[in-house]
Amino acid sequence: MRNAVDNPFNPGSDVIPAVWAGRTAQLSDWRDVVRPRRLAGLYERGRTILGEPGLGKSTLVRRIAKEAAAAGDWVTQQLRVPSGSDPLKLVATALLKLADDAGLPASRERRIADAISRVQAVAVSGIGLTLRDRQGPEPHAALTDLLIEIGTAAAERGDVMVLIHLDEVQNITDGEVLSQLLIALGDAIVHEIEVDVPGGRVERTLPIAVYLTGLPDFEDMARARKVATFARRFKTETLAPLSDDDLAAALQDFVLRGWDVPDGSGGTVPIRMEKQAAAKVVDLCRGEPFLFQLAGEQAWYAGDTRVITIDQVRQGWRSAQREATAHIERILDRLPRREKQFVEAMASLPVAERTLSRIAEGMGLSKATDAGTTSQRLDRERGIIDRGRLYTFRHRALEAYLTTSWPEV
Ligand SMILES: Nc1ncnc2c1ncn2[C@@H]1O[C@H](COP(=O)(O)OP(=O)(O)OP(=O)(O)O)[C@@H](O)[C@H]1O
Ligand SMILES: [Mg+2]
Repeated sequence: MRNAVDNPFNPGSDVIPAVWAGRTAQLSDWRDVVRPRRLAGLYERGRTILGEPGLGKSTLVRRIAKEAAAAGDWVTQQLRVPSGSDPLKLVATALLKLADDAGLPASRERRIADAISRVQAVAVSGIGLTLRDRQGPEPHAALTDLLIEIGTAAAERGDVMVLIHLDEVQNITDGEVLSQLLIALGDAIVHEIEVDVPGGRVERTLPIAVYLTGLPDFEDMARARKVATFARRFKTETLAPLSDDDLAAALQDFVLRGWDVPDGSGGTVPIRMEKQAAAKVVDLCRGEPFLFQLAGEQAWYAGDTRVITIDQVRQGWRSAQREATAHIERILDRLPRREKQFVEAMASLPVAERTLSRIAEGMGLSKATDAGTTSQRLDRERGIIDRGRLYTFRHRALEAYLTTSWPEV
């Protein structure tokens, strides 16, 4: 009954999890702001969604893209930038496919055929195009032009959006490539065309939405490259862990109705979760989407009864502990030395004494201001802490790891 095939929890997979929690603000931003505004020809910035590993950035935009595709929109797959590769080629290839899906009339219109062949060159040579032939057009211009053609075709249809999702953007380490890409996407977002309306002509933007997702380090890189338009054309959000309320709500269906699985004789039987068991899952995962899936998965495997009990949740978690630890250590070890020192010094202080000066002192610094930049980065860029008179942790799992025996049960 409770086996690997019917287990609805799925840590670390590329599918949108069946047991979904929270992120309502971001989903509604797409449904109620980005999509309707861009469809209406109004300007709306692209979205950059950053955050520490495992917070659900890729999954969130994958879900948005799935909704968009279901509504008939023209959607690139999640374009994942492999480290060390040339993302211009990746984006060029994706645009060619979009143009094909959109049925752009390349054979009839010279302009379109031209845009396509220039992007084909980018798909083959990527950034090499700029280096080899300094006289020639920059790759970004070719990408923008084709994107504009695709967007114009979408605008003519009236009810379709073009959605581009570029993932793992922190892997774009080549500054020149990063500039080219951000300019290409940014220029398409601001581009306006004239359309006929009764009584005259008006300007509209194209129904194009761009989502960039990746680790927080990306923002630094974009800023360091001084891609001046980046900050203005993209709205950046750093994801926080899920709230306990959101996680509990995600399990409520389990508690009340249960999850239907095949009963082995042609019918289905609901697998329920004790209320205390659900509360335990919420408590154990500390707002981490990945650990939420892991806790659920292991609890599911920990027995074969029709009701998942709190003991099974505990037992399941024991077999997941090592992985939970590895997950948090990965986050901690990725931090630059100063930032790691900061969170460790902060964690070693009692909650009521976590002021900037005490933390700086704990780091062996003579002045509080010496820790200023570090604390600012941990707050604004990484979303790991919140600054105030007293400093608090926003990343609850990191706090639990540094201050208690968690993830041990
Ligand atoms: N809203 C959510 N509700 C429930 N589970 C989620 C949610 N978002 C993500 N998850 C789960 O959390 C795990 C991590 O998600 P994801 O891979 O999207 O994180 P990420 O932020 O992209 O991580 P990375 O930085 O490592 O790429 C996946 O197993 C996914 O199923
Ligand atoms: Mg990801």
